[in-house]
Amino acid sequence: MQSLLSHEKRTKASISHRIFPALALLDPRYLQTAPGHLINDTAVDALGHLVESFINTNATDYSRMCVLTGLSVWKKSRDIFLGKREAGIRDYENMLTASAMAGMAISHTGTSLPHGLSYYLTYEKGIPHGKAVGRFLPGYLREAAQEETSLILEKAGFSNPDDLERFYTAVCGQETEGAVSRKLKEEAISGILANPGKLKNCPHPVNEAVLQRIWG
Ligand SMILES: [Fe+2]
Repeated sequence: MQSLLSHEKRTKASISHRIFPALALLDPRYLQTAPGHLINDTAVDALGHLVESFINTNATDYSRMCVLTGLSVWKKSRDIFLGKREAGIRDYENMLTASAMAGMAISHTGTSLPHGLSYYLTYEKGIPHGKAVGRFLPGYLREAAQEETSLILEKAGFSNPDDLERFYTAVCGQETEGAVSRKLKEEAISGILANPGKLKNCPHPVNEAVLQRIWG
C-alpha cells in the first residue's frame, strides 16, 4: 500500500488502486538488522491490513484468501513480537510473507476506519504508522459482525478483542495515550464523518457513536 503525506489536508492518504507494484523484494536478510520496535510497529500495521481488508465492503474471495493465509503466517511470529524468543531467518521470511499477503489484500480492498483514524495520530502527533493503526484494531473488531471477528481473531491466535488489545499494549506500548487529546479525538471523528471516502469501505453503518467506541 503506497501512501502520501498531504500538508494541505493535514493527513496521510493512501493511493491504492493507482499504483500496483510489479515486483516485491522479500529478502529476509533485510530484517536481520531492523530494530525490534520497527519490526513490531510494522507487524501491527500488517495485521491492520489483514483485518481491515477482511472487514471491508470491497472484500472478495481472492482478497480474503490472502487474509486468511496471511493471518496464519503472521501468527507464527507472535512470540517474537512479544520478546519471548529470538527470530531466525525462517521467522523473518514468515514476517515478509505475512506482510506481502496483507499488502496484496489491502491493495484489493483499500483501507478502512483504523487507517483513517490513525492518520490523525501520525500527522498531528508523529506516532509511527503501525502503532497508530493498531490502537484502533480492537475497537474496529468489536463493531464488526461476530462471525467475522471470531474467524479473524482465531486465525491470528487471539481469543477475543481484549486479548488483541493486551497484545498491542505489550508490543507497541502505551505512549500513544499521552498524545491523544480530546480535541484530536473530536477532530478525527468529525473529519472521518465528513469524508464519504473514509466511510465507504466499512461494511456496517458508521456514525459518531461507533467512531467514539472505536477510538476508545
Ligand atoms: Fe498501513
